[in-house]
Amino acid sequence: MNRENFGSRLGAILAAAGSAVGLGNVWRFPIETGQNGGAAFIIIYILCILLLGLPVMISEFLIGRYTHTNTAGAYRILSKGSKWHWLGKMGVYTGWFILCYYAVVGGWTLHYTYLSLTNAFSGVKASDFGNIFNDFVSNPWIPLLWFYLFILLTHYVITRGVQSGIERSSKILMPTLFIIVVFLAVSSVMLPGASAGVEFLLRPDWSKVDSKTIIEAMGQAFFSLSLGMGCLCTYASYFDKTTPLGKTALHVSVIDTLIAILAGFIIFPSVFNIGMNPNEVGVGASLTFISLPNVFQQALGEGSLMSIIFSAFFYFLLFVAALTSAISLHEVATAYVTEEFNMTRNRGASLVTIVVLVLGTLCSLSFGPLSNIKILDRNIFSMFDDLSGVILLPIGVMFISLFAGWRLDKELYRNEISNHGDIETPYFKMLIFSLRFMIPLAILLVFLDQLGLFKAIFK
Ligand code: PHE
Repeated sequence: MNRENFGSRLGAILAAAGSAVGLGNVWRFPIETGQNGGAAFIIIYILCILLLGLPVMISEFLIGRYTHTNTAGAYRILSKGSKWHWLGKMGVYTGWFILCYYAVVGGWTLHYTYLSLTNAFSGVKASDFGNIFNDFVSNPWIPLLWFYLFILLTHYVITRGVQSGIERSSKILMPTLFIIVVFLAVSSVMLPGASAGVEFLLRPDWSKVDSKTIIEAMGQAFFSLSLGMGCLCTYASYFDKTTPLGKTALHVSVIDTLIAILAGFIIFPSVFNIGMNPNEVGVGASLTFISLPNVFQQALGEGSLMSIIFSAFFYFLLFVAALTSAISLHEVATAYVTEEFNMTRNRGASLVTIVVLVLGTLCSLSFGPLSNIKILDRNIFSMFDDLSGVILLPIGVMFISLFAGWRLDKELYRNEISNHGDIETPYFKMLIFSLRFMIPLAILLVFLDQLGLFKAIFK
């Protein structure tokens, strides 16, 4: 089959970085850092990336580039008749599944960009931002329309193909994202009283570091690097054979971490400027859509031009970050149906989009008309979110590292990461050790912690 590759090394890096840089960088990392010892947390996080994240990323890259096919096909080729081929399928369906709710949030970022531009937050009482958000998500129509717009944009990029769709959009969107992040961070740091926010984010406080901190840093590192499913493996199947895998993984991780840290510089100086307690801003959707619109209004002047610009750029930034991640999620499933079921790219992409439209609609409506449908005490949206983030992704990371560490031929592994001897790989032994022992053990700890066992033993 005629298969496209990325046209340039930069394009490949930016596409993979687009997958990694997502909502997680903005709505989770900064607040986790602030509450878990600032620079101490950042150091632990970077260690997690180097020791645990990079080996998995390099392995996913290797599996994709070596097999040069979609994720399900890749594991099938490498597992030669064993049960490991399920790992590839699981990666595909996990990505497809995540896209269903991730794109709903993508729609929310568009709505909030629109609200910012129309100055809708001006004059709203601090206590009313929660109602604005709840009224919006429980409305049966408006969130759906934004979600449809978001997924259609994603669909459009995917149907344009690997080079003119994914690569080209990454080359435009990632630099745009970076410029917006720097602009917002600089504006925020220049606010009066901002230094307290910077201190909150950066002052190392090792007394706050305990087993929980390390577990949070690990979970965040895996999610933020888009590991544990098919995204990076699929993108790497479009790398050409000379792409240096270790270096590319390092570049992607550095970009992802840098953006996450800069996101903290956007959020905390403004929070401190208005004298708000950083432990009360919340995390995830409540931080992003309830606390921050209020913080930006008050820090930059109610209804002022600066507050409109700042807030609109902030939600647009979230939109861009979510879009490039959604594109990578969509591509996992599109490559799979196209190649495994012999469809044209347009057909394959349409099938993926239709499934996401149906399931995403259920997720979106689960805040309104379908809110009484509960599975394990969660609405449909949270069920999708928890099942993927808490169960499927960690299991994916664990088995990918076991697969790469134990099952893959070591000679093949070394040949691939060294591009057949062209690149020095002094880290090879360490990498295999991490894949075989450290990562599986780390994930086991994450699971034990989630089950509450860890707390019972150590506290
Ligand atoms: N890395 C993305 C983020 O930080 C989320 C993501 C996870 C995207 C898995 C694709 C695959 O938000």
